[in-house]
Formats: sequence, C-alpha cells, structure tokens
Amino acid sequence: MLKQPQHIAFIMDGNGRWATARGHKRMEGHKAGVDALYNLLPALVKRGVKYATFYAFSSENWGRPEEEVKGLMALAELVFKKELKKLVKEGVRLKFLGDFSEKSKISRSMKKIIQQAEFDTAENTKLHVNICFNYGGQQELLNAARELCVKVENGELVADDITTDMFEAALYTAGQPHPDLMIRTSGEQRLSNFLPWQLSYAEFYFTDILWPDFDANALDDALDKFAGRDRRFGLVKF
Ligand code: FPP
Repeated sequence: MLKQPQHIAFIMDGNGRWATARGHKRMEGHKAGVDALYNLLPALVKRGVKYATFYAFSSENWGRPEEEVKGLMALAELVFKKELKKLVKEGVRLKFLGDFSEKSKISRSMKKIIQQAEFDTAENTKLHVNICFNYGGQQELLNAARELCVKVENGELVADDITTDMFEAALYTAGQPHPDLMIRTSGEQRLSNFLPWQLSYAEFYFTDILWPDFDANALDDALDKFAGRDRRFGLVKF
C-alpha cells in the first residue's frame, strides 16, 4: 500500500509573482490563491488526507504595504464569512492558528468571524483545515512557554516535570497529529517561521509551481515523492 500523509502543511507562496507575471495587481494573485485552496480541498479528501494546514497570514506579513495588508484582511473576511456555508456543507472543520489575543492587531469583527467559523464547523469531521492567520512559529512557542511558566508560578507545576506532551498541549495545534508532509510552492526553500515544533519530523517538498497554479495533479506529484521517502524518525531501519 502506498504511504499516505494524514496531515499536510502548505506554504502557499508565489501569489504575487503569479499576478505580476500576468500584469495584474498582487491582490489578484491572492484571490487566485484562495481559489486554488478551495479547489484543493476535495482532492485532499479524496486522497484520504484528514488534516491540512495552510499558511495564510504570518505575524511578519503586517510589514507588507498597507494596501496589501488591507486587501488580505478584506479577502479573509469574505472567505471566512460569506463562503462559510459551502465549507460547512463540504464537511470541513475550520480551526484558526495564530494570535487572536486582546492585544493582537486582528480586528474585533475579524475575531468574531473566526469564532463563528470555528463554531459552525465544529461538528465536521471529513477534513480538518487549519488556517494559520496572524501566525508566527516562534511566537507560538513563546506563548506555550509563557503558559507553562504561569502554571509554575502558580505552583501547579514543577519546571522539571514539564514534558513534551504538556508543551504540545499548550500549542495552537493541541490534540492534532503533526504534519507528515510540508509543501512549499514557488521555488523558495525555507520554513519562514511556520510550525517549527510540529514540522520537526515532516518530509519537505518544494515545487517551482506558483500557489495559484497548484492543483490536484501537483498534489499527486508531491504524494508520489512522499510515498518514496524513507521516514526513520531518528531510528535505524534494517
Ligand atoms: C505568499 O505569496 C502568500 C501569502 C503571504 C498569502 C497567502 C494567502 C492566500 C493564498 C490567500 C488566502 C489568504 C487569506 C487571507 C484567506 P506572496 O505574496 O509572498 O507571493 P510572492 O512571493 O510571489 O510575492
């Protein structure tokens, strides 16, 4: 039987270049990127993938030109609010990974939309979709460390007794399996602060395809490569 990943993480890179190459504004690339994401969901379900994590907006993306940041926020509102019914019907469970705390830059209306989307899809089980939004891997680790520090300060926990399981439970992905495969499009080969803990033993797959062009065929190429990988998890196989 072919080895199949249960969880795939995607860095959806290349939207801007895709648009610029066509003489369009960068936002057109992000819109096409959303279409690519949507179109991929049935293909993931068909191939038995249970979890998919998409890097939609990083903590560092706030530094992009104001017009693009505003455009991405508006696009996100549209997707997570107006298109929600479609996702509910398709059996997708949505979870948002990122900083949505009081002091985060995420607007109150956006936070409401996110909460509603998680609530409306909470019973779905066909495909778990994580959207990394205002997400930073280092910030996630720091957040988890702080959470555990508070428990130590309160006398609920002794520092020496902290286990990897406890740390896991303080991450945004608590209770989920780690990604088996990380796919980054557009030819860039770096992690960019994406799931540093969870991707520790993932297989990495890089393709020159720009995200808006990433489709079911491109997914199959990645799955073929994954099936040929020898995952040892630090062990020796004879
Ligand atoms: C990277 O391409 C992409 C992003 C920073 C955003 C990815 C977002 C989407 C696919 C849309 C879904 C997002 C929301 C908010 C629902 P890039 O802009 O860095 O492309 P470039 O490297 O060619 O400039």
